[in-house]
Parts: sequence; structure tokens; C-alpha cells
Amino acid sequence: MTSTSERRVLLAKPRGYCAGVDRAVEAVEIALEKYGAPIYVRKQIVHNVHVVKTLEERGAIFVDETEEVPEGAIVVFSAHGVAPVVHEEARGLNLRTIDATCPLVTKVHKEAVRFAADDYDILLIGHEGHEEVIGTTGEAPDHIHLVDGPGDVAGVQVRDPDKVAWLSQTTLSVDETLATVAALRERFPNLMDPPSDDICYATQNRQTAVKEIAAQAQLVIVVGSTNSSNSVRLVEVALEYGADASYLVDYAEQIDPAWLEGVTTVGVTSGASVPEVLVRGVVSWLAERGYTRVDEVESVPESMRFALPHELRKDLRAPA
Ligand code: F3S
Repeated sequence: MTSTSERRVLLAKPRGYCAGVDRAVEAVEIALEKYGAPIYVRKQIVHNVHVVKTLEERGAIFVDETEEVPEGAIVVFSAHGVAPVVHEEARGLNLRTIDATCPLVTKVHKEAVRFAADDYDILLIGHEGHEEVIGTTGEAPDHIHLVDGPGDVAGVQVRDPDKVAWLSQTTLSVDETLATVAALRERFPNLMDPPSDDICYATQNRQTAVKEIAAQAQLVIVVGSTNSSNSVRLVEVALEYGADASYLVDYAEQIDPAWLEGVTTVGVTSGASVPEVLVRGVVSWLAERGYTRVDEVESVPESMRFALPHELRKDLRAPA
């Protein structure tokens, strides 16, 4: 067993809430305050068990499909974005919508619309079945082909190999996406790039930060839910960059004390949909087991903020 004096925690910074998650959660909270419960939310507002449970306790009702929302009710669309057909469904049901799609996801939707208007085949790098991928694909279903990692590249079929563009989901591994793009470019030398990075600043910064602590820690604990793409990527990146082991947990109680066997340095970080209170829970749990020294390692300064969805801003400006 290691002595207490040797044991320490390296806390990655930045970690946790990104500007898009902050905005989406705040949108539901403000809607509950301003219009009263229930407020319907289509899909999980952000992919975090604790956030969803807390909002449910306050009167949010999470549904999977628009048709589950009663006619005329208020519905919030999640940070991951929706396909245009979902807006049409909401109009058909006379719903009042608040669109909490992250502006950086909206940016990718617009890129898809523009490439499709120019009749490009669009290779969307992303994970099959992820809500963001479903939403983006819905912008141009006849032009978009999903590429789920470098292994999919050989099977891609396009109409004209000289008229192909790529886009990506916002929460992927930066390194794996570069490898996928390199393989695509080998097949399609005239492949068009997106006008700017699709992998968002928060995903990139959290991966940079975990790389730094993983190199110094034997174990990296990532706080996040299993359906959170960016959180799962943090575990993969930690393992790739030097951690002997890395696990994803929603709460401190899910940590197995056996993971600490022979470990002097534990790295801790959290996905972009994770409130800081859960990280504090993990740090306290570790402190109770002798990991009392906590050093925060800041890799990239971060100060991004997004304005609330415009439907809310309009109502908040209107006299009561
Ligand atoms: Fe937006 Fe990136 Fe967060 S796309 S919701 S800023 S993880």
C-alpha cells in the first residue's frame, strides 16, 4: 500500500460544463420558473443522469418523441439538435418550442445545408445512432453518408469522387477524427474540408487537459454518463496518453476501491455535461482514502458563453 504522503489527485482544467450545456440546462430552469411545470423536454437535455434527474424533480418531463408532448404545451429541444422534420412535427402539434440546440451544433447543420445545396456528397464522421448525428443527417438525408471511424472509409460510396466534403460530430476524439480524415483524403484527394473545426472547443480542450494529467497518473477517473460521447472519449484518450487504467463514473459511489491498488496519482476530469458538484463528490471520496493533496492542472484557458435561446430572451424582455 502506498503511504498517504505520496497520494495525490491531479484535477484537469478545463473540465465539466461547456457553454452549450450551461445554456441548455439554464433554458429548462428558466422555462420552469417563467412558465411553471410541466415543461416538456425532447430527449435528455444533456447526456447526464444527475442533470436529468434534478430537472425532473423540478417539473421537467423528458420524452423521446415529439408526439408524446400534449398539444399546445411547451417543449425544449436538447443541446444535441434536431432534424428539420422535428420542427415540423412540433408545428403540427401547435407546440411552443424553445430550441436549446448548441450553437456549435447548429453551425454544423448549416454547413450540411450549404454543401448539400452545392450538391456535394457529405461524409459525416460520427457515431451511428447518436442524437446529434441523427439531427445533422436530417438536414440533408439524400446527401449525407455516415462514416463511423477509419474502418468505414473503404466502404464509402459516392456519386462523384471529386465532389465530396466531410463534416463531423462535435464531440469526437480529435486524434481519431484526424486519422479518419486522412484515410478519406487518400480515397478522395479533392475532399473538401468544413469551413472551420466541427469538433467543438470544449471537446478539444477537455481532451488536451486529460492528455496532460494522464501522462502523470496511473488511474484517471472520468465523471460522466455512459451515453455522453465526449465523456467516453476522455476515457479513451486517458488510456492512449499514459494512464494504466481509466473508468467512467456517474457518481463517487460507483468507484471501486480496488482501482486504487498501488496507485499514487489519480487523475480526475469530467465530461462537458457534468456539473462540478459531482467532481467534488469524487475528490472528497478520494480524500477519505488518503488522496488529500489536490493539484489542479490548467491546460487551456476557457471563457466561452452563449446567449440563451432567442425564444426565451424574447419572453424575458417582454413586460410581465
Ligand atoms: Fe456545444 Fe460542444 Fe458543449 S457542441 S454542447 S459546446 S460539447
